Amino acid sequence: MKIYVCKDYERMGRVAANYLAAQINIKPDSVLGLATGSTPVGMYKELVKKYESRDISFKDIVTFNLDEYVNLPKENINSYYTFMHENLFDKIDINPENINMPDGNAKDFDSYSKEYEKAIALKGGIDLQVLGIGNNAHIGFNEPGEYFSKETTVVDLTRSTIDANSRFFDSIDEVPNQAISMGIGTIFKSEKIILLASGKTKAEAIKNTVNGPIDPHVPASILQLHKNVLLIIDEQAASLLDKNCYETV
Ligand code: PGA
Repeated sequence: MKIYVCKDYERMGRVAANYLAAQINIKPDSVLGLATGSTPVGMYKELVKKYESRDISFKDIVTFNLDEYVNLPKENINSYYTFMHENLFDKIDINPENINMPDGNAKDFDSYSKEYEKAIALKGGIDLQVLGIGNNAHIGFNEPGEYFSKETTVVDLTRSTIDANSRFFDSIDEVPNQAISMGIGTIFKSEKIILLASGKTKAEAIKNTVNGPIDPHVPASILQLHKNVLLIIDEQAASLLDKNCYETV
């Protein structure tokens, strides 16, 4: 697991965007796995700038998002559908047919989840997956538990995730308590993975991900076994790491 530590959130966004831009330039029809949340917003801003300056084009890029809330209308201001369109898709030249997002309002989640897995496989799998990390070390919405989840499925959100996400909603009662999420197995099949983290509240999760035993109670710890993972984190998120285990960029 390679770790880049950046001075601050802005630098983290630029470093991550450079990595994605390199992937897009090398393989213009890349399949990207995308994440939502506060962490990747800076990276998306930088990617939009790169698109505007014609450094990159998304014309042949295919995307699959990690997760979506269950039973939140997709037009809701807090849906990940809205987030992705506002932060990225509406600002670039991506073909709408190449955008794939889990449907939080699917009628039959079992068969829909299988279809989502199949759609990823049909595109040849994910070339580069972007991840954030929860305060409890979840990736996607794969919460701490007794085992590592395998495939896309509906998950119950833990109290800590609901609390963390309540900052976007008018009241905590409005936060959905379920989401549909790619499984850890889905994420793990990606060719390359970058995980972004910013701020002190992520320091413990990062420490346990990097140094701790591989344990489903720390979902991100499984990334220690992946052959191509890069953590791009800021100094605060890295504050509990041994200085010898990372590069400052
Ligand atoms: P955040 O969420 O980027 O809003 O901190 C990350 C996550 O929960 O995976």
